[in-house]
Amino acid sequence: MIFAANFKTNHTRASTGEYIEVLLLETSLLKDDAVYIFPPTSALQASKEPIKIGAQNAYMTQNGAYTGEIGLDQLDEFAIRTIIIGHSERREILAESQEFIAKKFQFFKEHNFEIIYCIGEPPEIRERGDGAVLEYLSTQFEGIDTNYEKIMIAYEPIWAIGTGKSATIDEISITHNALRELTKAPLLYGGSVNSNNIQQIAKIDNVDGVLVGSASLNAKDFLELISLSK
Ligand code: PGA
Repeated sequence: MIFAANFKTNHTRASTGEYIEVLLLETSLLKDDAVYIFPPTSALQASKEPIKIGAQNAYMTQNGAYTGEIGLDQLDEFAIRTIIIGHSERREILAESQEFIAKKFQFFKEHNFEIIYCIGEPPEIRERGDGAVLEYLSTQFEGIDTNYEKIMIAYEPIWAIGTGKSATIDEISITHNALRELTKAPLLYGGSVNSNNIQQIAKIDNVDGVLVGSASLNAKDFLELISLSK
């Protein structure tokens, strides 16, 4: 399975280093999985086998005048080759439009990055049922090459993120089966994944991995979550 830890605006450079050390004590547990850590930008560092470090965000530039952003120069310093694009917090809080996201996707695709591409519906769309959800999600693929060989797609319903209320097994299953029709890419589920629901979620057909926020912040909890999925 793929286990991706999205720290968001949590952890420092020092605590990210300590976190990785804790994970590295358990490499035998991690050896059959793909484990990614997405620390905040200030904690970016080189990957340490078998853990891959990725960027939560970057701007579509080599370098230049983009105050507050980082580009390829800064990612190259740590040989970062993985990035999250389209996370709902960037769509909603940072007001990234689909057009902007598609441009960013294209740039990082051209630079051969692995891309975790996030999609997910707001609660009012979920209330209208599966058909409305799938229609909404299709708009989040505008300008996105779902056949790109290094794309992973993370389905993260907005109402499930950070709320402790994961999508139901049926909701995940229906969405992931529909996504599978669209692409051969690995499909991740995200939204309140934790040690209580990982066993069930890991068993769902067409769930190839999970993108975990809150329940990844403590290294021991994240290791427990990985071991429970076996
Ligand atoms: P959560 O966040 O696990 O805290 O719900 C998931 C995410 O936003 O990637």
